[in-house]
Amino acid sequence: MPAYAVIGGQWGDEGKGKVIDYLAGDVDSVVRYAGGNNAGHTVVNDKGTFQLHLVPSGICWPNAYGIIGNGVVVDPDVLVAELAEIAARGIDTSRLYISERAHVIMPYHIVLDHYEEKARGDAAIGTTGRGIGPAYMDKIGRMGIRVGDLLDWDSLVPMVEQVLDHKNALITKIYGGEPLALDDVLAKCLLWAEQLAPYAKPTEQLIQDLLAQGKRVLLEGAQGTLLDIDHGSYPYVTSSSPSIGGACTGLGLNPQAISGVLGVFKAYSTRVGGGPMPSEISEAEGSEIREKAHEFGVTTGRARRIGWFDGVAAKYSQLINGFTGLVLTRLDILDGFKSIKLCVAYEVNGERLDRFPANTGLLARCKPIYEEMPGWDQPTASATELSQLPENALAYVKRIEELVGCRAQIISTGPSRGETIQVEPVFT
Ligand code: IMO
Ligand code: MG
Repeated sequence: MPAYAVIGGQWGDEGKGKVIDYLAGDVDSVVRYAGGNNAGHTVVNDKGTFQLHLVPSGICWPNAYGIIGNGVVVDPDVLVAELAEIAARGIDTSRLYISERAHVIMPYHIVLDHYEEKARGDAAIGTTGRGIGPAYMDKIGRMGIRVGDLLDWDSLVPMVEQVLDHKNALITKIYGGEPLALDDVLAKCLLWAEQLAPYAKPTEQLIQDLLAQGKRVLLEGAQGTLLDIDHGSYPYVTSSSPSIGGACTGLGLNPQAISGVLGVFKAYSTRVGGGPMPSEISEAEGSEIREKAHEFGVTTGRARRIGWFDGVAAKYSQLINGFTGLVLTRLDILDGFKSIKLCVAYEVNGERLDRFPANTGLLARCKPIYEEMPGWDQPTASATELSQLPENALAYVKRIEELVGCRAQIISTGPSRGETIQVEPVFT
């Protein structure tokens, strides 16, 4: 029953879309289990460049089904627009299924995301503004609307009436905003029901059936472990569980079904939004990487913060996920650097700290302890064999493997499918 997970090891944007697309040629299904359209997964292949937010990144392959699991929050407007866009570019979108248990991002979630961020002032999380947090709040608060609810009008109407009363009270009385009209929200629901009905399925059963037939299923992580609601740098996190536990709850999948857990790490660090990042580097130093790597958010266009590889955070990520293999992306971006730093421990209150602290205040005071390694002149860009890598690049990869405690199975040397070194087989 081979399911394999591809999980962000850092703060998101590790290149998961490219990795999924690279692997999806050899699988039967690609499944999203958490997050929503806060994700931005870039896929570059023979049909062009795709920036996917909700549709699983395997969709470009004709062999793979795309499944959106119960752990995902779905904005139907975004999904429908994304499907139309990729269909117009020659991709067959009929192979998509959505869990009836997935929660819907309602219009008031987006309104509340903006108001809540504004109210946080200087402590703003820097959310993507897509209604993700408020949708998950309602899920946990047991007042969410699910895809299956959209399909049952008679029970939906009283649910929406009740929830909208509550949301309008928040919007008007706390934030001084304009209430949403019930008729408008219901009209949206009616349209969405029609649009989503062909895709809604009991996906937990579907995945189970695929696995029982010996089919290979790839679990596509969104966000990253350090943005995990439980394990990330709380409260500067997203509201879901991007790490491996989320793959089980977000799909209704038992852990024994998962044969491999790939941790995707960039060769340096980035973070978009607020919150501490101990190995962050100065604007002047970081802008070279940002420009070269085009480190701007796919979802919001914001400039990403840049830092050196954080070995402490990476080791913690390994602890949470139990990675069976590592995927190192964007190694080519470091081509031409004279020397490269690696954060191997933190210093806080005059003492050395070797683990990622739970307390965000403490994390914010952590200073990086760096190890410096010589860079390389010859390019790694577009390399497809380990033997093409300069010695210093190989040494860098090896040091990262040591820090994470896991072997590199794939190294990405450019955005396209072909710019990939398959160090060892992922599927066993
Ligand atoms: P992918 O899948 C990077 C960040 C936001 C913000 C925090 C909370 O492309 O790796 P939210 O809108 O989720 O409530 O925002 O999480 N964030 C991401 N950062 N990559 C992502 O997804 C992200 N999804 C959310 O910037 O700091
Ligand atoms: Mg992204």
